[in-house]
Amino acid sequence: MQYKANTLEHYWMPFTANRDFKADPRLFVRGEGCYLWDHKGGKIIDGSSGMFCSAAGHGRPEIADAVSRQLREIDYAPPFQNGHPASFELARRVAALTPEDINYVFFTNSGSEAVDTALKMAMAYHRARGEGQRMRFVSRERAYHGVNIGGVSLSGMAKNRETFPGVIPGVVCMRHTWLAENRFTKGQPETGAELADDLQRFCEMYGGTTIAACFVEPVAGSTGCLVPPKGYLERLREICDAHGILLVFDEVICGFGRLGTAFAAQAFGVVPDIMTMAKALTNGAQPMGAVAVRDGIYETITNAAPENAIEFFHGYTYSGHPAACAAGLAALDIYEREGLFERAAELSPYFLDRLFELQDLDAVADIRGYGLFAGVELKAEGAPGARGTQVQKDLFWKGLHIKFTGDCGLVAPPLIAAKEHVDEIVGILRDTLA
Ligand SMILES: Cc1ncc(COP(=O)(O)O)c(C=O)c1O
Repeated sequence: MQYKANTLEHYWMPFTANRDFKADPRLFVRGEGCYLWDHKGGKIIDGSSGMFCSAAGHGRPEIADAVSRQLREIDYAPPFQNGHPASFELARRVAALTPEDINYVFFTNSGSEAVDTALKMAMAYHRARGEGQRMRFVSRERAYHGVNIGGVSLSGMAKNRETFPGVIPGVVCMRHTWLAENRFTKGQPETGAELADDLQRFCEMYGGTTIAACFVEPVAGSTGCLVPPKGYLERLREICDAHGILLVFDEVICGFGRLGTAFAAQAFGVVPDIMTMAKALTNGAQPMGAVAVRDGIYETITNAAPENAIEFFHGYTYSGHPAACAAGLAALDIYEREGLFERAAELSPYFLDRLFELQDLDAVADIRGYGLFAGVELKAEGAPGARGTQVQKDLFWKGLHIKFTGDCGLVAPPLIAAKEHVDEIVGILRDTLA
């Protein structure tokens, strides 16, 4: 594909070094299965499922057809005080995948909106119970919860918040769970569960009854696949229960099979009160996020309002958009029909074994992983992130797409990947890093 000089100028790209990119652009123009193609015709294996979205691989005709059919039938339906069938059906299908009594689903358009929605749900829930004094939120260092003001307030990544100090007050961060002693651990580290006691300390410091919710990514994704130490999430659950604090799992990356189960909640056997999700909900084919909550949260908020009154003053013009719901339903059909969550679990040992072979390389500082998700942390060279950025570009031109955050490459192939795809990814990584 050709593009004219300067036609790239007007688009202000997200989380991108715009000037650098526009001088040497890397455009994806086609996708099929585990592969993408660049604007010069190069074939690129997708080692990060786009950005953890394309679980069933790219270019799935079932999804394209479902979206096209839906748009021809009804392109838009007002979601406030009205509805259309696909949103109810998708909510039912998502609720069937979430654990236990997490049965109510609210639709958003992104993971960021899901996080901000979850914050508001936590506030509304406590207020409905007469505990509106719970205004404080707990998050974690190295957390990423999207880019809206709520999510930025919860962020544990300095760069994402330093320009925006005017975020919501009252957020305190627990320590992150990366420990030097756990470098090169496959799966859950044995040590570190006691880091969850930071939440207990906040309860003692501020009073447990002032805290509304504790937000964590079960596996911290964007800052490098930090797998929770054994017993860590269980301990958070215990402390939340003891103090009436809602536990929120941000499953935007972990959800829909990435860890070999529907959600991280099932992988680690810990049930949160609220789950946020997005990305693979539609296989990335339409923008969509969701928040799933326990029955008690929905019922408390709903029953607290007068009859016939709106119960939760929140929603988006595009909540449960017909095209997004059609994509979601088609994606969930594929996941089920092709057994993709089980397939991810089966491929995981091979995937992790092959990736961990890279630990002999000088450039590699640490490798971590769970399911079909791994972080390959490079030793920094120059400014933090400079090496990661360069490696990401080099990999692209060598035929591998990997999402980098700072100096950490996040490897997360589509769940349809086979051993040969893993071999190809590891091979290009080794050649480039060596
Ligand atoms: C854990 C987590 N939460 C929230 C988000 C934000 O999602 P979105 O980019 O769809 O707004 C992300 C995105 O990567 C994420 O990883």
